[in-house]
Amino acid sequence: MSKAANIILIGDGAIGSSYAFNCLTTGVGKSLGIIDVNRKRVQGDVEDLMDALPYVSQKNIYAANYEDCRYADIIVITAGVAQKPGETRLQLLQKNAAIITDVTKNIMASGFDGIILVASNPVDILTELVLKLSGLPRNRVLGSGTALDSARLRSAIGQRYNVDVRAVHGYIMGEHGDSEFPVWDYTTIGGQPIRDFVPANRLDQDLAAISEQVKTAAYSIIEQKGATFYGIAASLTRLTAAILNDDHAAFAMSVHLTGEYGLDDVSIGVPVILSGRGLDRIIELDLNPDDLKKLTDSAAILKQNLQS
Ligand code: 2OP
Repeated sequence: MSKAANIILIGDGAIGSSYAFNCLTTGVGKSLGIIDVNRKRVQGDVEDLMDALPYVSQKNIYAANYEDCRYADIIVITAGVAQKPGETRLQLLQKNAAIITDVTKNIMASGFDGIILVASNPVDILTELVLKLSGLPRNRVLGSGTALDSARLRSAIGQRYNVDVRAVHGYIMGEHGDSEFPVWDYTTIGGQPIRDFVPANRLDQDLAAISEQVKTAAYSIIEQKGATFYGIAASLTRLTAAILNDDHAAFAMSVHLTGEYGLDDVSIGVPVILSGRGLDRIIELDLNPDDLKKLTDSAAILKQNLQS
């Protein structure tokens, strides 16, 4: 029997399972259906998650089929292989493109007409692939993109200067990967531009160190514990909540550009307003020439790999 569901999760690995649990503990969504090729694992996860319900939040959790996608408001895709130590996200493309192609076809065969949030890597290219294969409008096919990287940026700045991360604002733009970059012109601490907040004699080395720390965060975590999942799961939960609650909140995430920032035909991490309709608005920052070149170069890398 198909159950009406807010959220369908496709991919019940470390990220998917952490996302499912985070949705429970934060009360995001009314129902959560889980799909994975490993149905035994899904059933075990569903039973494990149901054991938590009395202490967290009421939710209809169940092992779903693709037919259930028809009733979903949002589908979150985490399916695919994860990076091994030292592996880049782009190196996952071949394998994960085949998986995501199959997943997208199964979703659309159900009559699904909601919003898709992609997290599988390389997320920008796979978001573009889902957009093209699904035929859905660009406001309804989004990638987590640099939402996680922007959280890492804020966290790194907060730790370094002993400031509550909620007082730190800024974006990582570009590929969710090695060509990403921080937009220092729009990074503030308590409303003060970071370049005014940090003493001049430390500025360049601090910004370089923060940028490197953010860019290599996943590699470092994977090297130590084998995979990342809590940061991306929390990012996906927050993005899901913004959509389901029609928050009109600002995030950097992967969206398909049609001329913004002078770029076309690519999904890449830019600041957006996220609402119940998905992509509500792209925020076009006035990037300095250096940052605009970084974004353009990053887009070129993504396009090259999409065509490969
Ligand atoms: C991350 O950045 C691996 O893309 C994943 O944590």
